[in-house]
Amino acid sequence: MQHDIHAHKLLIIDFGSQYTQLIARRVRECGVYSEIHPWDMSEDDIRAFAPNGIVLSGGPESVNLEDPPTVSDLVFELGVPVLGICYGMQAMAAQLGGKVEASSHREFGYAEIEPVECRLLHGLSDEDSHAMLKVWMSHGDRVEEIPPGFVATASSSNSPLAAMEDVERNFYGVQFHPEVTHTLKGMEILNRFVHEICGCAGDWTPGNIVADAIEQVREKVGDGKVLLGLSGGVDSSVVAALLHEAIGDQLVCVFVDHGLLRYNEGDQVMDLFAEHMHINVIRVNAAERFFAALEGVTDPEQKRKIIGGLFIEVFDEEAHKLEGIEWLAQGTIYPDVIESAGAKTGKAHVIKSHHNVGGLPEKMRMSLVEPLRELFKDEVRKIGLELGLPREMVYRHPFPGPGLGVRILGEVKPEYAELLQLADDIFISELHKQHLYDKTSQAFAVFLPVKSVGVMGDGRRYDYVIALRAVETIDFMTARWARLPYEFLEHVSLRIINEVDGISRVTYDISGKPPATIEWE
Ligand code: XMP
Repeated sequence: MQHDIHAHKLLIIDFGSQYTQLIARRVRECGVYSEIHPWDMSEDDIRAFAPNGIVLSGGPESVNLEDPPTVSDLVFELGVPVLGICYGMQAMAAQLGGKVEASSHREFGYAEIEPVECRLLHGLSDEDSHAMLKVWMSHGDRVEEIPPGFVATASSSNSPLAAMEDVERNFYGVQFHPEVTHTLKGMEILNRFVHEICGCAGDWTPGNIVADAIEQVREKVGDGKVLLGLSGGVDSSVVAALLHEAIGDQLVCVFVDHGLLRYNEGDQVMDLFAEHMHINVIRVNAAERFFAALEGVTDPEQKRKIIGGLFIEVFDEEAHKLEGIEWLAQGTIYPDVIESAGAKTGKAHVIKSHHNVGGLPEKMRMSLVEPLRELFKDEVRKIGLELGLPREMVYRHPFPGPGLGVRILGEVKPEYAELLQLADDIFISELHKQHLYDKTSQAFAVFLPVKSVGVMGDGRRYDYVIALRAVETIDFMTARWARLPYEFLEHVSLRIINEVDGISRVTYDISGKPPATIEWE
């Protein structure tokens, strides 16, 4: 029998912490579905969501400020377990009759706590320490007096009240962050909360998610035909594999090859999806149209607009040639849903203004199928593997919609694109070969249309420059340049200059983000 993967669920109430999404992801890693909602979610919505437990996130505010974000009274009246983390614990303490004060110094980083006999933390200890837990702290305020009914369950040197609980009412508070990996026993604490305390089963697993999504898609589209813009990126690829599994030949994919893809990428996409998986994929070779439209254009934003606009035009033309399509599939994922909800209520943290080339034409009159709407990126990857997609594809670095269009500085020309593809392929395949690919979050080559002098044998060369870029990042909002070994860089540089006729110099980009961006344009 199929599991109802939404039968048990946790509500994560967001007070603006940078870790809120991480809390939701960790709860799901425990096998339990969770959703993030803003702290001022209405009582009706909370009731309708019917959570089996609630987590109050951290946040940047202080409960002692005028008009601080508060926990809805209903949260404490529903009769379900509540776990307050950092600001969540402070708000819980302040609202239930305790006291919170600004501490004399901010506590940021590792701390050691010593739990007493209690429900949430009892018996947990790090391997190398007796009864002590290494935890991650990041707070200014701290709880000075716990509310009536609670007991203190752990202390650190700077936070005498680092954790508290009231097992009668099932309310728990921790000053530290169990969701970050620096808190070594964080997952055990969250597992204990969601399973033992909230009583949730662990049905949220990749296999069950796939089975559920297949059933939902079948129910939704019936025998209707579905169109998907396949880009070769992770999200649209997983949607393709999922829909194919669910509705077979009712799926038609259109793959627009704009000529600004990575080396051989167009053929690889066709090979995997059309040849191997027998999915109906229409490849549109539109490189010439894109290069023609980009001729003479040097401004990065204008290049993005041209590529994005033309992409939609080509996709639209192709869609009009097809008959009887009722549905348009999209690879929207949960963080997009949270971001646009935040944007509507003015509470978005940071919103990227990228024009994603997969954007849909507004005038297309089709209903949407978005089977990944509930999933985080790591979950999309896991179900991609579950659906049989190759690991290299599912864990591929992100690639911008405008592709090499923003990696060829200034005017885009076909001959530049060809040189860049060759250089980039050498860089990426060497990263794979030397097991460095997964250690970087994104790596690529950039084409600089300037000529530089070199010597080769007895001859003098006057050729173009390639810059290599590799970064380590979690969220792509900030990034550190990857400390790749010198020997590796030397080897890649030599290969590019020797093998790519037209390149005479290779540089490595050592700019962080900020102040630089990851892409060069
Ligand atoms: P930046 O250059 O802004 O890049 O530091 C952050 C991340 O976004 C990707 N990126 C884009 N993705 N369309 C996209 O779909 C775009 O126009 C675009 N520009 C940047 C970039 O590759 C990096 O992962």
